[in-house]
Amino acid sequence: MKTETNISLLPYNTFRMDVKAKIFAEYSSVEELKQLLEQYKGERLLHIGAGSNLLFTKDFDGVVLHSAMRRARALDEDGDTVLIEADNGLVLDELIAQLCDMGLSGMENLSYIPGEVGASAVQNVGAYGVEAKDVIVQVKAVAVADGTERIFTNEECKYGYRDSIFKNELQGKYIITHVVYRLNKRLEPKLDYGNLRSEAGENVSVMSIREAVIRIRQQKLPEVSEIGSAGSFFKNPIVSRTEFEAISNQHREITIPYYEQEGGIKIPAAWLIEQCGWKGKMQGGAQCYPKQPLVLVNANNATPEDVVNLAAEICVDVKKKFGVTISPEVNYI
Ligand code: EPU
Repeated sequence: MKTETNISLLPYNTFRMDVKAKIFAEYSSVEELKQLLEQYKGERLLHIGAGSNLLFTKDFDGVVLHSAMRRARALDEDGDTVLIEADNGLVLDELIAQLCDMGLSGMENLSYIPGEVGASAVQNVGAYGVEAKDVIVQVKAVAVADGTERIFTNEECKYGYRDSIFKNELQGKYIITHVVYRLNKRLEPKLDYGNLRSEAGENVSVMSIREAVIRIRQQKLPEVSEIGSAGSFFKNPIVSRTEFEAISNQHREITIPYYEQEGGIKIPAAWLIEQCGWKGKMQGGAQCYPKQPLVLVNANNATPEDVVNLAAEICVDVKKKFGVTISPEVNYI
């Protein structure tokens, strides 16, 4: 167990906000996590993964928890599938690299998403037509209130687009310690999103799909080791068919891109933001990323206020021009 006081959170958030935490504690087992929960009862708690989906807006007057559990194991297998259990602190892409190496299919489209296993199961990360929920069988968690362990089935996690029960009614109530995934021994390629099929080429393998996804991501998205960001800053808004028709009628001069899906019509927030003229624009040290305007970046020593103001102005403009509300996917702390 490692505990530090009054430390800078700069190395612990990919947006690179230089804020402080009163206490930072890292545990190496579920038992240590339970001890920390007992020791810091009553304190404000924040469990972080790689800090790749949050924006610290000020110093954190509480205890930041982080997991140093970073292993994965095969639990069971049948003729077609393998169950893999991963610790919450394992870097998601390290897990995916290992699985692809073993020829196991299901997570290759999620390659190169920043973050750790536990947070990815809270957020239901997704890319190129696959979401974490498609491969998650169950998650194992510890209750913050009394340290009891509980297993949530996939259904009990109430997964939705970048959403789960852990972001809603159980927010702050459980810490996910392990995630169990079901992978396929045979490749079931999912190549229908964007230009993935052409990028992956002929005779695909789990590894060639992983490599194609990484190439596409590297072309469009900032490398978190080089430029601070938290990936997509906003969620893609979903509107009703009636709303979509009303918006299209008001903007007959342009063709609005859209994706039909359960529950309505998804409009790419990147497109809405670009139409409002924000692509590449700066606000203090924060910038709307020129290659993918859904991403806000820390281009030049941005303060939390720079990012918050930029995001707020973008939301106001999108609402004014299209009447559509876009909301942050990133958690403000
Ligand atoms: N677009 C523009 N201008 C641009 C870029 C994109 O208008 O400069 C429009 C185009 O119409 C394009 C559409 O946006 O077809 C979709 O763009 P893209 O395929 O890049 O995907 P996205 O919807 O912007 C989502 C995820 C990404 C994920 C990609 C690929 C969300 C919030 N974001 O972005 O996830 O990598 O799809 O599956 O759903 C993340 O969560 O951090 C993340 C990067």
